[in-house]
Amino acid sequence: MHPRLRALAALRLTDPEQKVAATRALFAQLGDEPLSLQPVRTSGDDTGVPGRPERPLRVSAMDVGKRSPFTPEGRAALIHSICHIEFNAINLALDAAWRFDGMPEDFYREWLCVADEEAQHFTLLHAHLQEMGHRYGDFTGHDGLWSMCEKTKDDIVARMALVPRTLEARGLDATPLIQAKLRRVNTPDAHAACAILDIILRDEVGHVAIGNRWYRWLCERDGLDPISHYRVLYRRHEAPRLKAPFNLEARAQAGFTDEELQALSQG
Ligand SMILES: [Fe+2]
Ligand SMILES: [Fe+2]
Repeated sequence: MHPRLRALAALRLTDPEQKVAATRALFAQLGDEPLSLQPVRTSGDDTGVPGRPERPLRVSAMDVGKRSPFTPEGRAALIHSICHIEFNAINLALDAAWRFDGMPEDFYREWLCVADEEAQHFTLLHAHLQEMGHRYGDFTGHDGLWSMCEKTKDDIVARMALVPRTLEARGLDATPLIQAKLRRVNTPDAHAACAILDIILRDEVGHVAIGNRWYRWLCERDGLDPISHYRVLYRRHEAPRLKAPFNLEARAQAGFTDEELQALSQG
């Protein structure tokens, strides 16, 4: 089966462990043979996309409870929320690899690599959550990441602009703040969580870089100005406001230009 159709099959799986296994096997078996660049999408393919378990119950971002990391329950809820982001991130990477016909081969390979890394992140966090006596699904989760995928499903430029280089990039800003709190908690489980977040932060710089690279490639192909077109997309799809403090170092590593970093601090 074409790797992009395997990505669709993995995207439809509802069981997290099965999705992780299928995603990891897909990337491991990708090999060096050229991928056929024939279109793979047909209408009606969106049935069952994305596959996700019945739990966590999905709620709006406003209804997700407060998570003080200073209690064991609060820390479990915090880890669960990041685990939920990683589960969604597997789906969004598989979706990028499957949905958009007509891109160069590297585009598909890079998104399948991202999916593999998201599957690793989910696995690390889920194991940690289980050590804390909980499982994925024990708390609620919100749907911000996938709903942006939905809104941008017909526009690959908007998808690259708003999912990896907006929503995933917010993770670059948020992770050091979460780590600082966990360090203050100063328990073995909090330190273990910090170490997992180090791995995630390192990999996420790469994911945002992939978003930046393809966003620029698409802007060039379509004759769009990356900065002014970003503003158009940001408003059109009501992307969440970007909030300081920004992790400027990680963002620069992920390929944001000086001009983009300056625009960020001007709001
Ligand atoms: Fe991740
Ligand atoms: Fe990511």
